Amino acid sequence: MIEITLEVNGVKKTLSVEPRRLLADVLRHEFGMSGVHIGCAHGACGCCTVHLDGTPRLSCLTFAVQCDNSSISTVESLGGTTADHPLQKAFRSEHGLQCGYCTPGFLMTLVPFVDEMVIQKRIPEDEEIREAMSGNICRCTGYHGIVSAVRKAVTDGLKSGAA
Ligand code: FES
Ligand code: FES
Repeated sequence: MIEITLEVNGVKKTLSVEPRRLLADVLRHEFGMSGVHIGCAHGACGCCTVHLDGTPRLSCLTFAVQCDNSSISTVESLGGTTADHPLQKAFRSEHGLQCGYCTPGFLMTLVPFVDEMVIQKRIPEDEEIREAMSGNICRCTGYHGIVSAVRKAVTDGLKSGAA
């Protein structure tokens, strides 16, 4: 067993883990972050995406011991039913989800993209949005609603920045 310290959604915890243990497993079972979804478990679907020190990372391809002394954010950090992130609101209004299983991964992949577009003060082309989410698979939506949600979140972000 190896002792590691992780900061997950602002809460620091030291724990002992086996070197083979995946970050996704530790986040779900040791930190209770059930929004970290496992789809394929081999890096193909993007469901398990979290932020590791601010950068999207597939938690099914990451060993927890690699993350010692790192800061991790899961979809729970975006807010819940009472404090939704603008991208979560846009997913809801633009019908960017159906069963919702893939949604945490899409959100954690796309939040940095939306933030970057707002910083650049431009609305991305659909092709750019599709490229940004090309590592995530959804079996329900056909992707159109997700593309619309990203465009709306950027548009709303630009409006609120200009206000
Ligand atoms: S569960 Fe990690 S990429 Fe599919
Ligand atoms: S909403 Fe069902 S898999 Fe994407």
